[in-house]
Amino acid sequence: MAKIALITGITGQDGSYLAEFLLKKRYKVHGIIRRVALEDKTHRLWRLRKILKKITLHAASLESYASLVKIIQRVKPNEIYHLGAQSYVDYSFKDEFSTLNTNINGTHYLLSAIKDFSPKSKFYFAGSSEMFGKVKKVPQNENTPFYPRSAYGISKVTGHDLTRNYREAYNLYCCTGILFNHESPRRGFEFVTRKISHSVARIKLGLQRKVILGNLEAKRDWGHAKDYVEAMWMMLQKKKPDDFVIATGKQHSVRDFAKLAFSMVGLNYKKYIEIDKNLLRPAEVQTLLGDYSKAKRVLKWKPKILFKNLVRDMVESDIKFVKRSGY
Ligand code: NAP
Ligand code: GDD
Repeated sequence: MAKIALITGITGQDGSYLAEFLLKKRYKVHGIIRRVALEDKTHRLWRLRKILKKITLHAASLESYASLVKIIQRVKPNEIYHLGAQSYVDYSFKDEFSTLNTNINGTHYLLSAIKDFSPKSKFYFAGSSEMFGKVKKVPQNENTPFYPRSAYGISKVTGHDLTRNYREAYNLYCCTGILFNHESPRRGFEFVTRKISHSVARIKLGLQRKVILGNLEAKRDWGHAKDYVEAMWMMLQKKKPDDFVIATGKQHSVRDFAKLAFSMVGLNYKKYIEIDKNLLRPAEVQTLLGDYSKAKRVLKWKPKILFKNLVRDMVESDIKFVKRSGY
């Protein structure tokens, strides 16, 4: 019998790659989406367009416990991947309330629904390296204390605590993946890597003159989303549930990313970047670097696509995208 997976956040970067990955593994894939996505299919389901006929979408809301119970009872999933969240850190300073509400309550409602209506479902929670925030140790692993620096980071620490508590208190199969930044040609335009790769393409094609950025010195451990969704699946295939850091173990600054991306189209980044202090965050996460040795040892996972190829993939894809769409 084919396994059944239910994905929240299926319209996002990771949700779309995970859905494709699970289809290849012959899962029946179901996704939870918001009403707006159903209303505006061409725009909001762009990442799913190639697999739309192969998956089943259900309208529900992470803010409504009842709607989640209904879907879980109907779908009876073997595995639930909870990726849906207000995922943009900068926005979480502007709208703490909805970030905390969606991210904390959404996770709580799902866990509670699983406990009462589907206790055999395995649960994956999308934790984040933002939980380490103002880092206490370099590099960060599963034992590094958390010090979140935004409502987003706080919501992910709480989601992680809820996930662990449901595992310990109710013996449910619940894991948190503590994923460091991962990018791809499907990244949202608001995140810095996509903002840069998209601007590089537009500048090269004569549609834009400058790109305006904030903190160029922030350092991140950037991997490719395709590699990271495989790690999510691997976590749910073990006998015992556990939490894992997923990262590349290599760090680069925003400046490094911009320099490499511009150099790939033969341009010097210094000529095209402007700094706007309004883009600095009230509390910045200055540096993140992951130690994924536990995932390597236990899951036999390691990243396949490293920094240079990630940047190339994004820039080449955006050149095609801009030529095709004019956007
Ligand atoms: P993304 O592209 O921003 O996708 C977020 C998804 O969440 C979208 O499907 C979005 O649906 C959905 N969503 C947002 N608000 C919602 C709400 N109120 N109710 C229901 N659904 C809502 O994010 P991603 O990069 O794929 O990340 C997936 C998950 O991993 C997120 O939880 C994120 O916080 C976490 N994470 C990401 C990274 C990373 O580097 N990418 C690293 C660590 C953790 P709409 O399409 O309707 O907006
Ligand atoms: N977005 C953005 N836009 N960031 C900028 C800009 C800009 O114009 N200029 C500099 N930055 C800096 C930010 O200040 C931050 O230090 C860094 O670039 C990365 O910002 P984002 O790409 O927005 O990602 P993030 O690291 O804040 O959050 C992402 O990774 C987390 C994992 O660590 C998101 O995907 C989160 O959902 C995820 O949990």
